[in-house]
Amino acid sequence: MIGSRFPGVAMKLYPLFADLSNRAVLVVGGGAVAERKVAALLGAQAQVTVNAPQLTPQLARWATQGRITHRADAFQAQWLERVWLVVAATDDRELNRLVANLAELQRIFVNVVDDAELSSFHVPAVVDRAPLTIAISSGGDAPMLARLVRERLEALLEPSLGALASLAARLRKRIRLRHPDMAARRRFYEELFAGPVAAWLRQGRPDAALAAAEQALAGVPAARGGSVVLVGAGPGDPGLLTLRALRALNEADVIVHDRLVSAEVLELARRDAERIEVGKQAGNHHVTQDAIHAILLEHARAGRRVVRLKGGDPFVFGRGGEEMEFLHAHGVAYEVVPGITAALACAAHAGVPLTHRDHAQSVRLVTAHCKASMDTLDWAALAHERQTLAVYMGVAGLETIQARLITHGRAPETPFALVENGSRSNQRVITGTLATLAERAALHAVQSPALLILGEVAALAPTLSWFGQAPLGAAAAAAASSGQRRTGLPAARPDEVLAAIHHV
Ligand SMILES: C[S@@+](CC[C@H](N)C(=O)[O-])C[C@H]1O[C@@H](n2cnc3c(N)ncnc32)[C@H](O)[C@@H]1O
Repeated sequence: MIGSRFPGVAMKLYPLFADLSNRAVLVVGGGAVAERKVAALLGAQAQVTVNAPQLTPQLARWATQGRITHRADAFQAQWLERVWLVVAATDDRELNRLVANLAELQRIFVNVVDDAELSSFHVPAVVDRAPLTIAISSGGDAPMLARLVRERLEALLEPSLGALASLAARLRKRIRLRHPDMAARRRFYEELFAGPVAAWLRQGRPDAALAAAEQALAGVPAARGGSVVLVGAGPGDPGLLTLRALRALNEADVIVHDRLVSAEVLELARRDAERIEVGKQAGNHHVTQDAIHAILLEHARAGRRVVRLKGGDPFVFGRGGEEMEFLHAHGVAYEVVPGITAALACAAHAGVPLTHRDHAQSVRLVTAHCKASMDTLDWAALAHERQTLAVYMGVAGLETIQARLITHGRAPETPFALVENGSRSNQRVITGTLATLAERAALHAVQSPALLILGEVAALAPTLSWFGQAPLGAAAAAAASSGQRRTGLPAARPDEVLAAIHHV
């Protein structure tokens, strides 16, 4: 069995990928662990026999469908004669040992689940980008570490890698013929895996990828232009970045970012990527939009991979649309990676569901920073009840928002939650009613970035708040002092507040 013959010296395992298609494999055990092993074996098209008195519902279904053979009788040694591998996955250690010993005698590799000593082969942690498969093993010494490495790789490797590997396999013979010289072939593959073919596959366009690969095979040089990825960085907490955003940051040559993008997010980018801040503060535009366009164009035309990193989502009050139109008009290749916009992040971190079957059937994302003036907004529509307003860039205009909404019929008792630095460690949530909005914001000296959530659902914040400091509001203070926050008990009787609003 596994283990070094020399005490204290860890034995090195020989890595191996086994072709099990149409080969018999025996799995002893019929529980959840056995089911996981069987699923992987079926994925490798093995002929699986499961030996167990009872099966999980899924294993039973596979048996009924004829995908596995079920043997309910007691384990018999002669079954081993016709199999290539055995997996012992019972919770009976003696039975596992018996299976392992008999397999050893017959020179059949055996894996005993969670028992490195009894096993003659280990099942690695796997990153599956079929046909590309990455297997990770710690030789049974540190399975948790192997799992962690797997998670990291999962995050780093594009799902489209599998399609790229399949395409390369399909063209392999022709590539070899076209480039018999090894060095030239390597260069060709490098371009295939990092250039336009890979980009088309990432963009879900396999036909364009194939056409680009054919062009490359025909010797047509690929356009050497760089590209721009518009990436949503979310509200600041790096945990709210998408995996795709992380990959883009890892591959960037240049990162053109807004001021709102947090330092923690920028930390995750490739160390040697050039960083260009084109920050904007309300009323204080450091770099004009035209200048930003020019920067994007200059770097893309120089063949660089540019990440245009924006707070939240690029298409929600982020001028991402304008930048994409510009890139399109100038023939620059682009991709877009969505991000978690402030409304979603602030609502989640303030414990305010933006919609709720009992309280709000729609939600509107509104900007208070309008090209002309706030008078261009449809205040009558915004004042409807049973809808939630998520107002961006509203700190400077809270008085106007309050006055206009009340004038157009929104109840002065309508609750709000004003979320400053949402999802960040310094988050503050100020709650109150529409009639006191500007006054309460001034009292707490609310600063940008802050998002106003206004509507019936905001009454839930004092009760459902779970992140950071408790909301700053009279009702919340009462809930906090009576220990009701975080227990799910009603704090401010939001039902009463809501009932009052619905009946004014
Ligand atoms: C120019 S807009 C950009 C919005 C961004 N594209 C998005 O999707 O979140 C900036 C406004 O977003 C809101 N905002 C962004 N991040 C925020 C945060 N962490 N907390 C509260 N509000 C935020 C504020 O209203 C801020 O004035």
